[in-house]
Amino acid sequence: MADPAQMLAAGEQHAGIVIVGSGLAAVCALEGMREAGYLGQVTMIGEERQMPYDRPPLSKQVLKEPGAEARIDLRDSAIFEAPMTRLLRGRCVAEIDVHRSSVVLDDGAVVGYEKLLLATGSRPRVLPGLPPAGAGVFYLRTLDDAVALRGALKSAKSLAVVGGGVIGLEVAATAVGLGVETTVIEASPRLMSRAACTQLSQVLDEEHRAHGVHVQCGAIPSAFEFSRNRHTISWSDGRTLEVDLVLVGVGVIPEIGLAERCGIECAAGGIRVDGFGVTSIPGIYAAGEVAFHYNGRVVCHQRQENWHHAAAHGRHVGAAMIKPEGVYQEICGYWSDQYDLNIQVFGAVTGDEHVVRGDISARRFAIFHLSDGVVVGITAVNSPSDLRLGKKLVRAGSPLEAEVESAVRA
Ligand code: APR
Repeated sequence: MADPAQMLAAGEQHAGIVIVGSGLAAVCALEGMREAGYLGQVTMIGEERQMPYDRPPLSKQVLKEPGAEARIDLRDSAIFEAPMTRLLRGRCVAEIDVHRSSVVLDDGAVVGYEKLLLATGSRPRVLPGLPPAGAGVFYLRTLDDAVALRGALKSAKSLAVVGGGVIGLEVAATAVGLGVETTVIEASPRLMSRAACTQLSQVLDEEHRAHGVHVQCGAIPSAFEFSRNRHTISWSDGRTLEVDLVLVGVGVIPEIGLAERCGIECAAGGIRVDGFGVTSIPGIYAAGEVAFHYNGRVVCHQRQENWHHAAAHGRHVGAAMIKPEGVYQEICGYWSDQYDLNIQVFGAVTGDEHVVRGDISARRFAIFHLSDGVVVGITAVNSPSDLRLGKKLVRAGSPLEAEVESAVRA
């Protein structure tokens, strides 16, 4: 039953700004608008029934520890109860009516807007052989997903993780720590290939194996079958694996449906926006993971899938909706915690030279990624001071400092 404070009668109109989505980008956009001096009405509409929460703990603390979800709120509820602010939870926007400048909710309620922000994020990519509603099949994006998986892991003996990306590996580390026999099945030849350099992939491979995870890279299963409460996964070379549960983490798809249906230009799987978050329809903006956005530093459009970008872009676009001051030019990164590894990556992991500082075998090292002699990114494992240095060099577009170079090349 919806909270009476957030009830909205069919036909009710509210002008001001409407934000579709209640995730990190949406919340940071609300803050960006207020910081830019906007005092008018903001209505945030989110499909999830919980107060806005942080997703990174879902594959770690929340999976491990019943009750941890009580500590993952993104903000104190006071910011959503402030004057001229309304958060509609558990409500879904079905359509945008660009002619009437309003959004229509799936229960028929209508909310008018002067400006609209789409911060709809992404949903997990679904593997056709493993639909999310299947028994013993889990995907992980929402708090409900995490709580369901946590419950299932309690009685499971074995788990197959399909997809050795960020989500898959964090779940694998958690599950094996809970005593569940775990196998990671990754299509590409190395783990975390989308976001990690080859050296980090190698370290992850060794660590997961050392903790007892079975790792199978470069092997796409040819069939998934389910009978008598067991999943059988088969490969074309005749190998099979039987497990109690399957977790699928094979990437995400931006939620562009609403934008596409009302004629907003989309490109590269996202909603195309300029350096201020403006879509092809004036007055409608997009921010976060869903946005194929212009970044003034790299001088091109791109999509970014990480927490850092959702926060920075949300805040930037929220402020730009009120007072546009400069194009977006954030350099982003991500982090992951697996076993005793605190992994921090900032900037690009590509480049033509990769300089290692520290001791990879001791799991305390940094890799500076260079392009044409300039540091473009850093991968730091259990090395906060190198991370700080790396970030500084990446932001300044500097070469590797002389003392760093002598340390690593000695
Ligand atoms: N079988 C096995 N592996 C597959 C298959 C398949 N059919 N299809 C894709 N993969 C692998 C990819 O090669 C990739 O390594 O799944 C992995 C997905 O990794 P990510 O792209 O990192 O996505 P995921 O781990 O699902 O994380 C989703 O959550 O951490 C956030 O924002 C981050 O975008 C990320 C999102």
